[in-house]
Amino acid sequence: MRTSRSPLRSRLTTLLTGAAALTALLGAAPAHAADPPLRDLADAKGKVIGTAVTGSKLTGTYGRIAGEEFNFLTPGNAMKWGSVEPTRGNFNWTEADQIVDFAEANGQRVRGHTLVWHSQNPSWLTNGSWTSAQLSQLMNDHIATEVGRYKGRLAAWDVVNEPFNEDGTYRQTLWYNGLGADYIAQALTAARAADPSARLYINDYNVEGVNAKSTALYNLVKSLKERGVPIDDVGLQAHLILGQVPSTLQQNIQRFADLGVDVAITELDIRMQLPATEAKLAQQGTEYEAVVKACVAVSRCTGVTVWGFTDSDSWIPDTFPGQGAATPYDENYAPKPAYSGIVTALGGTTTPPPTGACTATYGVTSQWNTGFTGQVTIACSGASLSSWRANWTFGAGQQITQAWNATCTQTGAAVSCTNVSWNGSVPSGGSVTFGFNANWNGSNPLPTVTLA
Ligand code: G3I
Repeated sequence: MRTSRSPLRSRLTTLLTGAAALTALLGAAPAHAADPPLRDLADAKGKVIGTAVTGSKLTGTYGRIAGEEFNFLTPGNAMKWGSVEPTRGNFNWTEADQIVDFAEANGQRVRGHTLVWHSQNPSWLTNGSWTSAQLSQLMNDHIATEVGRYKGRLAAWDVVNEPFNEDGTYRQTLWYNGLGADYIAQALTAARAADPSARLYINDYNVEGVNAKSTALYNLVKSLKERGVPIDDVGLQAHLILGQVPSTLQQNIQRFADLGVDVAITELDIRMQLPATEAKLAQQGTEYEAVVKACVAVSRCTGVTVWGFTDSDSWIPDTFPGQGAATPYDENYAPKPAYSGIVTALGGTTTPPPTGACTATYGVTSQWNTGFTGQVTIACSGASLSSWRANWTFGAGQQITQAWNATCTQTGAAVSCTNVSWNGSVPSGGSVTFGFNANWNGSNPLPTVTLA
């Protein structure tokens, strides 16, 4: 992943004089994300790695990560009925268009979300009093209008969202109450007519493991297939809780696949009680890995979409007060162990693990015939130090003559510098710099510093 230049790094760079030193400092980017990005790993496996997005945020760091790391987007809210037709007959496609345009510019595909749902409908629709015929007309017109608008441009549509209760009975909604369970077949048929090339989904939550709700969904999909109703995919949302990834996830994915439909994890997040600790984040990483692996293991599982890639764009804190940290990147766009978990499941590696790290960066700030001034900066992100020791080995007989802001000893080529009384503490987001003068002769190669 490309990292942007932090103010700290810019500031340090201006201190440097030698070209070699400049390279050393800039070359020491914190290795905290995968290279290649997630989307390349997913492409190599023929899988989707997607994220829900908010259109207005698709610039800056958010836009860069959304574009670079993912090969698939789902509008988090922009295509819901309440967003696109807030008052009857008055359409607002601004955010939806923005997301589709962004995806096309970045070589990404889009799943439209969502056409027929009980939530986030406009009040004119929910407050109206409709006959079955009117309701059917409204639903069909809505599908024809929205799917038709993006015909040929979207990979898929979540046609019906969340039709079931936890016990596997149908949820009593505007649609079910007005049209009976057949609203589902009607909606799918209308969506197929409006865009024959889009994959059509039924999507629900708490259907990731084998349970009463997923079995109801299974039976529905089976019967739709038997009736010849167009259903291509099942979406398992996967709004999960830390420590509660269903053990039957892969088995459940497989049983849907065996019905002759594709399966996708459509809205993955794994929430935890705040504050997030290193241990919880590490566990979350393992669980993200397990979820993605379960999909990778089933050939008809097309991929995984996370429901927001950063904790700054997640629905969890608003809906579950006291919970959060559910996505692969923290609020400052630093990748978390969850990100690593996805990488690992997709066959990649990250070094070092993105639990946060402290790094030491060596630079030469000035150099003359026989001597030079060097400096080492120790910076922490997502981790902290209460004391430190920086070690390196000179490669060309350099010899330290004097040090400041550290106590340095040199034995042969080996140098070891420890903190002084007042600068041992390096908080997350903070840094400490120490300096030294040294002699050199012939050449002055830059050593690699390790922290002990
Ligand atoms: O846009 C308004 C803004 O103008 C206003 O100031 C603000 C005040 O609360 O609300 C904003 O709207 C919010 C909207 O998200 C956009 O941020 C709504 O209140 C809020 O209810 C809405 O929540 C969305 C939720 O669906 C609604 O059920 C979440 O963002 C969205 O992530 C979530 O997504 C759903 C999927 O569609 C279906 N599966 C479950 C998933 C999580 O609930």
